[in-house]
Amino acid sequence: MSIGQKQSIQPLFQPFTLNQLTLANRIVMAPMTRSMSPDGIPGADVAAYYRRRAENGVGLIMTEGAIIDHPAATGDPNIPHMHGEDALNGWAHVVKEVHAAGGKIISQLWHVGITRRTRSEPNLEAASISPSGIDLMGEKAGEPMTESEIADVIKAYADGAANAKRIGFDGIELHGGHGYLIDQFFWEKTNQRTDRYGGNLVKRTRFAVEIIEACRQAVGPDFPIILRISQWKIGSYGAKLAKSPEELAQFLAPLVEAGVDIFDCSSRHFWEPEFPGSDLNLAGWTKKLTGKPTITVGSVGLESEPFDQKDEHEMIDELVERLDRKEFDLAAIGRAMLADPAWAAKIREGRDNELIPYTADRLKDLM
Ligand code: FNR
Repeated sequence: MSIGQKQSIQPLFQPFTLNQLTLANRIVMAPMTRSMSPDGIPGADVAAYYRRRAENGVGLIMTEGAIIDHPAATGDPNIPHMHGEDALNGWAHVVKEVHAAGGKIISQLWHVGITRRTRSEPNLEAASISPSGIDLMGEKAGEPMTESEIADVIKAYADGAANAKRIGFDGIELHGGHGYLIDQFFWEKTNQRTDRYGGNLVKRTRFAVEIIEACRQAVGPDFPIILRISQWKIGSYGAKLAKSPEELAQFLAPLVEAGVDIFDCSSRHFWEPEFPGSDLNLAGWTKKLTGKPTITVGSVGLESEPFDQKDEHEMIDELVERLDRKEFDLAAIGRAMLADPAWAAKIREGRDNELIPYTADRLKDLM
């Protein structure tokens, strides 16, 4: 059965508007690190890579995580920066290309904190700040961040947001998921602080709240700020920040208050219910509890997931049904769109038999 036979795919191709941001459809390219920007500078190949997706009808591109101006933000020299003249010129070219192809693009701002990934990277010493000097495995790794280090990082986020706006991006996304720095503050395992940045789940949102407020101040009231959140962490897929809808509501309230426009709710399989007793996924619950637009993500269009034998066509029909029910507003596509730049166009035109499947070798080049 081909995609769209069971039901119309039209809900995926309805426009979406939020303040100044108008998207032609509900398909989003998920942020995906490619580590192909030597010295942090995205080149012409990066611009062409994003432009190819825009030309093929993606509603919104979320860039790979771009590093804010802080010495410990990453240990990988090939991850792009959102600071410094050369990197910003590189990004300005990316934006120009995407806009010329009729697309919209937002920049994902990133600070990794301490992760297993950072610890295996070359620049280990620089990349070792975290809320409590505890890594994602629960091991001691460096010292807890001081208040002045926290203030520096908050400022670096705000500067990154201002840079992104100045060079023409259509919005920013703050990476608050997957166990990176902002999420290390959210998670009880990595945040054991006893000052105002630690405590219960609501208190652990304070670092993010101050970042969102500082970014809002830097970009003004109408520039879209998206926050990516996830329950799962690298190496701890079963982790749960919020164990019930009530806890999720408590967690989200201060983030909404701080000025988030859209929540990007990262899950590994969009069809998995977040809490027992309801089909709603994380994006569904987040929209229901906050009234804010949400983005879902997780294995859309992937051919074979060993732990779940869902056929990719049924999967997309289910995605469209959920979108049509307004469970969430936008759907991000990661690996399937990395594999096939024309994913959105092929789905729209019913050419799903021509889709290029995702395989790990698609990571080798910027296709
Ligand atoms: C990712 N993901 C990711 N997420 C994020 O917020 N910032 C990032 O920089 C990256 N980098 C990244 C690189 C690569 C190669 C992959 C495959 C994934 C996660 C990504 O945005 C998405 O949430 C997941 O891939 C799940 O979506 P799919 O791939 O199942 O559609």
